[in-house]
Amino acid sequence: MSKHPVSEGSRVTVQTLRAMVSRSEHITMTTAYDATFARMLDEGGADVLLVGDSLGMVVQGLDTTLPVTLDEIVYHARAVSRGARRAHLVGDMPFMSYQVCAEEAMRNAGRFLSEGGMQAVKLEGGTDMAPTIHRLVSAGIPVMGHVGLTPQSVHAMGGFKVQGKAEDARRVLADAKAVAEAGAYAIVLEGIPRQLAAEITAQVHIPTIGIGAGPDCDGQVLVCYDLLGLTSDRVPKFVKQYESFFERGVAAMQAYREEVRSGTFPSAQHSFGKAAKQHPAATDQIEARAYPLQQASQFADSERVLG
Ligand code: KIV
Repeated sequence: MSKHPVSEGSRVTVQTLRAMVSRSEHITMTTAYDATFARMLDEGGADVLLVGDSLGMVVQGLDTTLPVTLDEIVYHARAVSRGARRAHLVGDMPFMSYQVCAEEAMRNAGRFLSEGGMQAVKLEGGTDMAPTIHRLVSAGIPVMGHVGLTPQSVHAMGGFKVQGKAEDARRVLADAKAVAEAGAYAIVLEGIPRQLAAEITAQVHIPTIGIGAGPDCDGQVLVCYDLLGLTSDRVPKFVKQYESFFERGVAAMQAYREEVRSGTFPSAQHSFGKAAKQHPAATDQIEARAYPLQQASQFADSERVLG
């Protein structure tokens, strides 16, 4: 039997995710913010790509996710939707795009599907958000919940702190149940003790996807910049870096700079025409740069702009 839950090329849906959990297959989710990363992560087998408001911190360099706007996330969502072919795509509703009233939440969530090319939205909150989740689901918009450490409430929590410890566990469990009963199709459990995540996973009927919530969830999510090692800051305990792209990027830049400075780049291999010493009047390199890439085929095979 194939290890892959969907055949090559077919889109992961809400139903696929449910079926995976019923077969005890773990869901692999990560974030994406542009078409190139979406394509890379999709090809790597991500089941779910979230256009997260974490883009405020990893792409925009902010300290919190709070200033990220709906227009900004929808812009990134459109790019991601062009890059991913297989993964289920989820747009993260930013701060104050759904909290004011259900009507505003409906209008804003709709933009992720109609403009952003997403198949679902995610929003933070538990019991208080249940009526809004119900309205969105009734309007045909699949909703992924998010409870525990909810970064949009960073100031209310007094920082990015583990939630649901001791007595507080009951509150987080009640939040997760309320989200599931309101009709969410999956729920992110962030920054909670692993025992609580296991209990929620046993008690709710929808897939749970953990981040800093231990191994007993139905799936896991990591911010792609974290798993790829693209952040230069301190790495949180729950993050595993599967690559060190930041260091490798620095090294690549240094190598490029060295070659530009020494004159070894571009070599003949990366140049058009013959060496300027033999043909001082040669101008084809300059011409090639002026042509749009689509017209590259006008060049002889040995001089194709795209190689
Ligand atoms: O914005 C985000 O990236 C998230 C994930 C960490 C779940 O909400």
